[in-house]
Amino acid sequence: MSLDYFEKIQESVSFLKNKIDHLPEIAIVLGTGLGNFADNIKVEHRLPYDRIPHFPPATVKGHAGELIFGKLNGKNVVAQSGRYHYYEGYDMKEVTFPIRVFKFLGVQRLIIASATGGIHKDYEAGDITIVNDHINLHYDNPLLGINDERLGPRFPDMTDAYDPDLIQLCHTIAKEKNIVLHNSIYGGLPGPNLETKAEYNYLHIIGATVVGMSTVPEIIVARHMELSSCVLTAVTNKCFPISAIRKVTHQEVIDVAQKVEQKISTIVSELIRRI
Ligand code: HPA
Repeated sequence: MSLDYFEKIQESVSFLKNKIDHLPEIAIVLGTGLGNFADNIKVEHRLPYDRIPHFPPATVKGHAGELIFGKLNGKNVVAQSGRYHYYEGYDMKEVTFPIRVFKFLGVQRLIIASATGGIHKDYEAGDITIVNDHINLHYDNPLLGINDERLGPRFPDMTDAYDPDLIQLCHTIAKEKNIVLHNSIYGGLPGPNLETKAEYNYLHIIGATVVGMSTVPEIIVARHMELSSCVLTAVTNKCFPISAIRKVTHQEVIDVAQKVEQKISTIVSELIRRI
């Protein structure tokens, strides 16, 4: 008999529990260009996706595709290095499978870093933001289908999907470290193309201040399981006003994301120390 989604999660969790010494309390999802954050972790175990039951195989070049378990600033953490993007052809339940596994490993806090386009007149390439809310423009949803109550409720509330206490704490840390941190509303689109000028303008009109191709599915699932979440984004390209838009390549997105990595790393390390 084929396993249902819940059983697959439990098999992954049992496998990982047998491999690791300490259950993680914090999960960190390392987005595009932010992969070096793993260097800060005192690594205890590295588990490539292809060794973990039911983890979809990684496809993107330059993404390691592994879970890294270890200690960071006194906390037991797991870092997801190499993310599943919807635009690669994974379905929403595959994209969010690791988040389900983290919850059942005992994780209480989820920290995500990712690259975004800035759709606010004051956001420049190289700035960083903390997400306060999102608009799901995927026209797909990881919770579609029969709801499994063991995972969460049929109609999860999305108020405070981005934990206000963690947002506040990030602002406090950013001030102390002299890092400019904008609040943002994340417009989530599937990609993989960047947006047309008309689409950036539309995103601005509906109230998004950054745009990206990830994060929203993970946050919906985190909220479904009442996992407290915090998302920091690197603004890799300026998309507003429309006259400021320049052609961008994926390489430029990665280059800028790497330049701002220090700022996000500083905030995330300190956040982990204090929570
Ligand atoms: N659009 C969507 N996703 C992105 C962008 C963008 O302009 N920049 C970085 N990720």
